[in-house]
Amino acid sequence: MNEKKEDNSNWSRRNFIKFVGASTAMTSLSGCSTLSNKKPMEPIVGIDLNSGIDDIILAEGLKHKVLIKEGDRIGRGIRFGTNNDYLNLHTFSDGRTALWVNHESLSPILLHGRKQFFKMTKSLLRNERKQVGGSFVEVQKQDDGSWKALKKSDLNFRLSGLTKVPFSRPIDGATSALGSLANCSGGYTPWGTILTCEENYDHFYGEVEFSGGKRKRLPNGNYNLNWDEVDPRPPEHYGWVVEVNPESRSFEKLISLGRFAHECATVAASKDGTPIVYSGDDANDECLYKFISSEPGSLKNGTLYVASLEKKKWLPLDVEQDFRLKAAFKNQTELLIRTREAAKIVGGTPLARPEDIDVDPISGDVFVALTNNKDKGNFHGEILKISEWDKKSLRFKHKTFKAGGTENGFSCPDNMAFDSNGNLWVTSDISGGSLGKKPYKEFGYNGLFVIPRRGPQAGQVIKVASAPVEAELTGPFFSPDQKTLFLSVQHPGEKTKEPGRYTSTWPRKNKRLKPLSAVITITGPLLERITS
Ligand code: FEO
Ligand code: CA
Ligand code: CA
Ligand code: CA
Repeated sequence: MNEKKEDNSNWSRRNFIKFVGASTAMTSLSGCSTLSNKKPMEPIVGIDLNSGIDDIILAEGLKHKVLIKEGDRIGRGIRFGTNNDYLNLHTFSDGRTALWVNHESLSPILLHGRKQFFKMTKSLLRNERKQVGGSFVEVQKQDDGSWKALKKSDLNFRLSGLTKVPFSRPIDGATSALGSLANCSGGYTPWGTILTCEENYDHFYGEVEFSGGKRKRLPNGNYNLNWDEVDPRPPEHYGWVVEVNPESRSFEKLISLGRFAHECATVAASKDGTPIVYSGDDANDECLYKFISSEPGSLKNGTLYVASLEKKKWLPLDVEQDFRLKAAFKNQTELLIRTREAAKIVGGTPLARPEDIDVDPISGDVFVALTNNKDKGNFHGEILKISEWDKKSLRFKHKTFKAGGTENGFSCPDNMAFDSNGNLWVTSDISGGSLGKKPYKEFGYNGLFVIPRRGPQAGQVIKVASAPVEAELTGPFFSPDQKTLFLSVQHPGEKTKEPGRYTSTWPRKNKRLKPLSAVITITGPLLERITS
């Protein structure tokens, strides 16, 4: 491979075409008819993992640029965190714009440059705490249409594992938690706050189990992140949706939305303007939730519901509305801390790991990515469509919108975004250890897909971007003019076992340098043709 620094899109294109010519192992994942009556939209095909390709590969008519990457200094004593996920732009009244970025997890091997199984210390832990949470960075559109991160802007700030974050109501007498962590996807409210979701909190502080009236601590779910050995904290302090006010720089954990492995918190409004939040619990056989607020401009009070797909109903999780819940929990706060148990008591439907949720801007239907449930032989997941007469309705219809698998050319859907034309964009999350192996081999690396709404290619799942080695593309977000797609490139080289022997070095070409998670911008005539 050519090690010379070149324009990324050209480099990718030439090497990709060279590889297409050389390999017969590639499989076309989709047909190639036209999006409109213009030029056909050519899909990327599954890239063989033995190809040596470690880059963003884009469909013809797209190009990308790295906007900001992990470790970049974004202010006095603060740096951009790692494993970035959810993205959202916030515009201030003076017209300045900033990008919110979630930081989900970290690799201790890559961060500390040490081999697996090292002893955790307070100073290593402090460094790890700085990597998670979120970053807020001013971005500016340039005259040539590209975007630039203003790393010295006075707007920039961090939420991290070191930030004191108040609870919206006390938990066992505690009024705040140390830090936010496991920040996967999120949401944005009509009143201009960001919702950042604590997902796999058990990887940091383990979990608690309640049986026979006793609280029992369960071990940490990830042996590499042994935070509780050095600085124990109650697991009940994590697993919440955190509301971030970017203007006041204040944070709050919203107890009303329940505690579970929140993938996202997608905000919608009912016909009368009531705030509604949809959220999925990303674990095998866990549930889908909807929150109906009881006050305008706030998510602090309201009712949380769990979905029963069998009954086609949202079931309230409220101790005052269900005698079974009243008998099981001493009060509503205890129920919310143990949301999963409450959901099972009322008959919430176990699902194949609900990930991102998005509302179709044209039909109002709610799309839910169910990524997979390998324990039950469900390897490829699906996108579920939920139709409600009103977002406040407690009844709904549902059907599979698109099943994962070879027929549709995608597997393990995770993040989604609609553009303003109502085309659905989906990213995949085939785990690093499964990439290139059965039954995922033909899908190649993780990718970004578009499902056009109209035209001869309507309904096809077309792969338009392929991720670097072991990375996942996350947090797709369109600029207001729809001409730029912001996208996270998360955990390239995550299976690296030893510093210096990196499985990926993206976005750097020097094979001795560790990989870095980063936010990229995707632009180009193909994007404008689809979204305009
Ligand atoms: Fe962090 Fe469910 O993906
Ligand atoms: Ca996700
Ligand atoms: Ca989304
Ligand atoms: Ca995932």
